[in-house]
Amino acid sequence: MNNDCLGKSDLKSSRLIYGCMRIAGDQSSSDIDKGKQAVYSAIDVGYTHFDHADIYGGGGSEQLFGQLLQQSPHLRDNMVITSKASIRPKNDENAHAPTRYDFSKEYLLSSVEGSLGRLKIEQLDLFLLHRPDYLFDIHEVAETFTQLKVSGKVAHFGVSNFKPSQVAMLQSVLDLPLLVNQVEINIHNIDALNDGTLDQCQQHKISPIAWCPLGGVAYPAWGNTFSAADEQRIAIELSEQAQRYNCQPWQVILAWLLKHPAGIFPIVGSTNPERIIAAKHSLNLDYSREDWYRLLEARNGQTVP
Ligand SMILES: NC(=O)c1ccc[n+]([C@@H]2O[C@H](COP(=O)([O-])OP(=O)(O)OC[C@H]3O[C@@H](n4cnc5c(N)ncnc54)[C@H](OP(=O)(O)O)[C@@H]3O)[C@@H](O)[C@H]2O)c1
Repeated sequence: MNNDCLGKSDLKSSRLIYGCMRIAGDQSSSDIDKGKQAVYSAIDVGYTHFDHADIYGGGGSEQLFGQLLQQSPHLRDNMVITSKASIRPKNDENAHAPTRYDFSKEYLLSSVEGSLGRLKIEQLDLFLLHRPDYLFDIHEVAETFTQLKVSGKVAHFGVSNFKPSQVAMLQSVLDLPLLVNQVEINIHNIDALNDGTLDQCQQHKISPIAWCPLGGVAYPAWGNTFSAADEQRIAIELSEQAQRYNCQPWQVILAWLLKHPAGIFPIVGSTNPERIIAAKHSLNLDYSREDWYRLLEARNGQTVP
């Protein structure tokens, strides 16, 4: 699979990242086996970058991945492991704690320890702040990142779901470059195209990573606002394009993301080996500017002005 450097670093990642959010399923032994097969399929077909978060499967996704690495330690070679922290579920400390975001030093350090323990590794290649904490103290985060870097527990840093102003604010007090901004980008949610996120990525060589790339096509996107008519119009356009490119409609969506010059890395979250493997085909489509705009037009229900 194509490999590209993340941000300004020389850390190489497969252009398609494998997302581990769903790999532990309902934690039953059959879902765990399915999740392991999914990860093995991803490794076999050339994904080298695996996306985690402390909260995926309540820690179960990292745990499953750690078991797999323990069984086959050589898999860690040439692999990029990302994890994220900041979302704290309600009642995690006491019965009255609400769901909240937490960028405090104490919490982030303990979360990284937890991820390393579950993944059974010594260092995260990339650590991301999962969602911006409203009570975000940039100086405290900078200190935390420095401590994690000096201790060797994290090699590189990035953010997720940050607005361009928040990226700029944090970067202004950091000596280390933020390598990525992981945001939702799919046919339903195109905020990153309009709110300056992809502009900032391109200008400052920050790699945009797209979560839920198939939202709005394979399943309803978060906060779905598509009407039945919208869905039908998009499905017709996708089906015509899929015929033209001799591929499946959902592979067209990945090509649509890959076309953007900011260099989007889509995260594939399927646990179906056939789909994990087939996603790779999107990298070979010679997707045209005209089709890119046709799909945007189908999404918007109108031509661009
Ligand atoms: N930073 C953040 O805030 C954030 C938020 C959410 C997710 N993420 C990351 O992004 C990754 C990807 O997200 P995602 O899992 O939502 O990605 P996705 O690849 O957009 O969606 C995967 C889901 O779509 C289904 N699917 C895929 N192709 C399909 C098809 N052709 N027909 C029907 N269903 C299909 C999959 O089912 P099957 O398994 O049956 O194929 C799976 O349930 C996650 O694993 C996680 O690492 C990050």
